[in-house]
Amino acid sequence: MNKQASIEMKVEELVRLQKEHLWLHMTNHKAFETQEPPIMVSGKGCMVTDIHGKEYLDGLSGAIWCVNVGYGQQAIVNAITEQLQLLPFYGGSTGTPPYIRLAQKLVELLPGFSKVYVANSGSEANEKSFKMSRQYFRQKYPGKDKYKIIYRHRDYHGSTLAVLAATGQDERKAGYGPLPLGFAEMPHALCYRCHFGKTYPGCNIECARALETVIKQEGPDSVAAVILEPITAGGGIIIPVAEYYPIIQEICRKYEVLMVMDEVVNGFGRTGKMFGYQHYDFEPDILTMAKGLASAYMPISAVVTKKYIFDQFLADPADTLGYFRDISTFGGCTAGCAAAIANINIIQEQKLTENSAAMGQYLLDSLKDLEELPMVGEVRGKGLFLGIEMVEDKKTKAPLPEKYLAQMVAEAKADGVIIGRMARSVSGLNNVFTAAPPLILNKQETERLAMAFRKVIEKFHTTYAK
Ligand SMILES: Cc1ncc(COP(=O)(O)O)c(C=O)c1O
Repeated sequence: MNKQASIEMKVEELVRLQKEHLWLHMTNHKAFETQEPPIMVSGKGCMVTDIHGKEYLDGLSGAIWCVNVGYGQQAIVNAITEQLQLLPFYGGSTGTPPYIRLAQKLVELLPGFSKVYVANSGSEANEKSFKMSRQYFRQKYPGKDKYKIIYRHRDYHGSTLAVLAATGQDERKAGYGPLPLGFAEMPHALCYRCHFGKTYPGCNIECARALETVIKQEGPDSVAAVILEPITAGGGIIIPVAEYYPIIQEICRKYEVLMVMDEVVNGFGRTGKMFGYQHYDFEPDILTMAKGLASAYMPISAVVTKKYIFDQFLADPADTLGYFRDISTFGGCTAGCAAAIANINIIQEQKLTENSAAMGQYLLDSLKDLEELPMVGEVRGKGLFLGIEMVEDKKTKAPLPEKYLAQMVAEAKADGVIIGRMARSVSGLNNVFTAAPPLILNKQETERLAMAFRKVIEKFHTTYAK
């Protein structure tokens, strides 16, 4: 058999085995009765290659906004390999040099923060932030029960049940209830669809002030924390106005409610600052991070807290339950920490946060004029994190049905560029295209990404009969 024939045999076999045995994430497998399932094989820089050898510009950093430093970063591969040879694992109740060095690096990047707790996924990190917040108040005020968590409409915090209960996206929650109790929702912060029907700046930032209403409704003595994505990701790339978080902070301080910022997507340069919250003037209590922490070369997440949170867990040895009794087996994967350190070094040395800010602005500027088209409601973004809100009617802002976005995403992919869209998020409002390419994106690649959006959106305008 010649080489080409043997590759084709392998493709055929992998496709067949995939159809037989894989249960893919977020996928309706019914589609594979008529289509071939996707199989990705390799990546280099900002490009990925599928099983047929077709190359794509990856506008989503590994489909779900992870590979911030791009593919093929040898320094990360080396750091992982060396650490696996030295000590692949040791349970997280013991320190290891990479864990210690990662903690040192993170607190250097995060003035005011001092403690780092490692885990594996974004969901897990957020769960731990809830456990920390609840136990913090139970230790601080024995007899009082401050345990509720407030979250925001359109934000996402993960797939396990407590973080799903804290997720403001009905389509992620549907069918999985009953969800745990003790969670309450506040309105989203998207000006384009202001919940209060107002217009910034004459709006008194009602969306932030609404937190106080929710706290009062729930009973201030029962509320432990509010969890927020600094810039909402999967809920539609929502960038709160500058005054938003300082107001949230003021309300949290008034009622002694902790602020947990979910940096799982925003963190590590995605938005043009190292962390998303750093675009705003306020001081969160707890940060959670995952995807960009090691650019997903290894599964690692972290919860980073202020010292006053940690100090509340310094129990008298006689108090057997008074410390944080949480554990995460694979938090002890030392190569995850080694990968994260090498990854952060690349982000710093190659000035990828700065590149994200510059290329992100270029991308935004290149596409802003699409707003003149009748079905483009708003083009928004921060850093290499872009959203294009599609509407059927500009006056009513009726969302464009998502089947059309799906069609345009498929066209761009056929043309060799992977772009994204809101998927199974907020019912009736899955109408925002997304882009979150690797932060190493150069000018030419930025132009190609912009052109991919322009091409499918303009073509759609000429073919969609109104
Ligand atoms: C903002 C945000 N938080 C948390 C998570 C959950 O992370 P994981 O899938 O690693 O559990 C995600 C995942 O997409 C996310 O977007």
